[in-house]
Amino acid sequence: MIELGQHAVTPTGTLAAPPPPTRSTSLRSSAEWCDYFHANSQRLLPIPWEDGVPLTATEREIVAHSMQTFQLGESGEGRHIRRAADRYAARSGDVEYPAALRLFIGEEHRHAALLGRILDGAGIPRIRKQWSDGIFRKLRHQGGLELAICVLLTAELIAKIYYAALRAATRSSVIRRACEQILRDEAMHIQFQSERLALLRRSRRRWRRWTAVTLQRLFFYGTCTVFWMSHRRMLAAGGFPLRRVIRRARLEFRHVITIV
Ligand SMILES: [Fe+2]
Ligand SMILES: [Fe+2]
Repeated sequence: MIELGQHAVTPTGTLAAPPPPTRSTSLRSSAEWCDYFHANSQRLLPIPWEDGVPLTATEREIVAHSMQTFQLGESGEGRHIRRAADRYAARSGDVEYPAALRLFIGEEHRHAALLGRILDGAGIPRIRKQWSDGIFRKLRHQGGLELAICVLLTAELIAKIYYAALRAATRSSVIRRACEQILRDEAMHIQFQSERLALLRRSRRRWRRWTAVTLQRLFFYGTCTVFWMSHRRMLAAGGFPLRRVIRRARLEFRHVITIV
């Protein structure tokens, strides 16, 4: 079993369940997150590029569209959230948060570059526009830092299911190793975003926190439905039929709300 942050990928390519939920008592500071992102960049898994990306016709048909979509999704500039983070830092005095957020965005760009190189190696064209990516970008631009983080967090949780399925859906050593790396990063991205949400909501009354989590939950399950409809062939090929997607989504969300 390969350890991926707090989670794990089994030898059969399935994503192990998150650990039992426990109430988080200590949240990392922005400086600690900067240290984490710097250290993480020094311990990347080697990708066996020398193997190439030889996909069978069936594998290509199953994974091409979803990989194009996720490659685009990982490549966002994050201009809106970076501006929101700058305003939040000035307001709260947490002056290191924008740097931590930029390092996080850098990891997402590393994922986009990884997927882009895989698409190129497999002879699958990259795309520049996709309707669900457009909706996600527009939503992130509708509010402040909290909404932007909620939208991002939803994408991260879905990514954990997606990359576990993608890893199992092909025999390509490059894709499988890339998925392991991305899963490891995403587990910590979820922690990073959840901790910031917890800080943003910490001083609120209980009913306001409950309302925020309920809206977040509705958005998450709505997005999961669209995700399953758009990628169901690849998900099924990777061992994630609808029932398993729902079960895993529920577990992942439950883990997050113990933090926020
Ligand atoms: Fe990512
Ligand atoms: Fe991420």
